[in-house]
Amino acid sequence: MRNLPRRRAHASACALLAVTLTTIGIAQAQNAPAPKPAAPAAAPAGKIDNGGVLFKKVGCYQCHANEAQGGLSGPRIGPALFPWARFLDYTRKPSGEMPPYSAKVLTDQDVADIYAWVNARPRPPAVNSLPQLAP
Ligand code: HEC
Repeated sequence: MRNLPRRRAHASACALLAVTLTTIGIAQAQNAPAPKPAAPAAAPAGKIDNGGVLFKKVGCYQCHANEAQGGLSGPRIGPALFPWARFLDYTRKPSGEMPPYSAKVLTDQDVADIYAWVNARPRPPAVNSLPQLAP
């Protein structure tokens, strides 16, 4: 019992040391030169035709419309609106209204096929090329 205060002191010294070391560690990590950003991973080559089939089969079209141009239930998702990593991540783990698609439903290659198809859709015309909207 008599050495309890000493133990306490010892314990708090240890805690202080741990906090200090952690802080130094964090400070060093912050000062460390930022790692070079990895080049964004390119999409695996996708089969456009199969992507179009899958787009209908698993129901992307129900919200994003037949040409991925968007509609009442989902936004336009192409062509060329999202980098591959974002497209794949979002299909796996959407954060809003969209249902998630696991690798059991769509393999990475399947998603790459859909991505290729989406990106092969014609670009929408420039807004000011539409007579009704031209200034
Ligand atoms: C039930 C409707 C629905 C279906 C089915 C659906 N989506 Fe979506 N999706 C949405 C909505 C709504 C959003 C807008 C953000 C949100 O609410 O998740 C979205 C957003 C996205 C985005 C944009 C993410 C971003 O960064 O903004 C991508 C890419 C996408 N969907 C791909 C797909 C693909 C590929 C499929 C089919 C495999 C699919 N979606 C099926 C409703 C849907």
